[in-house]
Amino acid sequence: MNWPKHGSNPQFLYRALNQEYPSNFIDFSTNINPLGMPEEIRNELIIGIDELEHYPDSTGIELKNEIAKKENIATEGVLLGNGAAEIITIIGRWLQGEQVLICQPTFSEYEASCLQNQCLVEYISLDELETPSNVFERFHSVRAIFLCNPNNPTGEVLEKDIILNLLREAKKTSTYVIIDEAFYDFLEDEHTYSIYLHEYSNLIILRSLTKMYAIAGLRLGYALMEGNLQEKLSAFLPHWNVNSLALRTGRIALTLDEFTEETRKHILKEKKRLFYYFDQNGYQYSLSRVNYYLLRDPSMDEQTELLNYLTAQGIVPRHTFNFPGLNGRWLRFAIKTESENNRLMEVLQTWKDRR
Ligand SMILES: Cc1ncc(COP(=O)(O)O)c(C=O)c1O
Repeated sequence: MNWPKHGSNPQFLYRALNQEYPSNFIDFSTNINPLGMPEEIRNELIIGIDELEHYPDSTGIELKNEIAKKENIATEGVLLGNGAAEIITIIGRWLQGEQVLICQPTFSEYEASCLQNQCLVEYISLDELETPSNVFERFHSVRAIFLCNPNNPTGEVLEKDIILNLLREAKKTSTYVIIDEAFYDFLEDEHTYSIYLHEYSNLIILRSLTKMYAIAGLRLGYALMEGNLQEKLSAFLPHWNVNSLALRTGRIALTLDEFTEETRKHILKEKKRLFYYFDQNGYQYSLSRVNYYLLRDPSMDEQTELLNYLTAQGIVPRHTFNFPGLNGRWLRFAIKTESENNRLMEVLQTWKDRR
């Protein structure tokens, strides 16, 4: 089966399943804010249209300054990307030929980027981090370890002690710890490891603005780090990598605290309703702290039959065949609007009733 590599663009999933692409469907496969793009960003995009006649500021200095101020680090420690995905791509180039560790199951782009650059990729399961002495031993030969926190696809968060321990041990061997915080702003307490950047020059934090602000098509992400690493990584970036509309709206996005708060409230409310329904109806789910979760019908091992049923009903989940360790035994769903989540529960109910 030729499974699509990512969520979104459901036409590829329908093609893989050999089903007709319906005119009406609800896309639960992409983890974008269900409240949509905030009005302030929409307005800013309109204001910025005329700037498209010119080249953007290739340094992105104004946005970098704002991010640095918010994160309490030097501007030199901020790297801007055309989405966090671009930064993952250049990290792979920077790590060319090195040995790297990836905590699985997780976002597939770390592996893709490292493999493209002839890295020796090794894997550990997230469970292994709970008793980490074996992991720490491997740091002698490992140049970097990738962690996704909150993790995609589970939505779960690692214990703080586990991450701090890892940072301490990794520092001894100059192993870089790359923590992808693409979804950290959906966490109820929005906690981040960026406060440890001063202490750990081996720490790199990745962030994305495309999910919270629903600007996946516009593309904007950034990385935070200490020392002169930013310069080394920037050397792999194309000139003008971030467009002027993204630079402009990024600055506005950083000020939208009410919007992010409203989003978190919505997600929490909907998650409670969904998880209550799953508990009552015998569905298993991951203990997600963010805006997506894994779900399975425990009466089956692989969930392809359920996936086929849902897509035929116009419900599009994310398959998990390319998440090592999950191998199609779960489906991932974004938390969406109240009516969309209701529709999902209705269809899950008809699935239960007919079995
Ligand atoms: C964990 C994680 N990191 C990074 C990205 C890439 O984000 P962006 O849209 O900013 O490139 C994604 C996209 O789904 C993701 O899930």
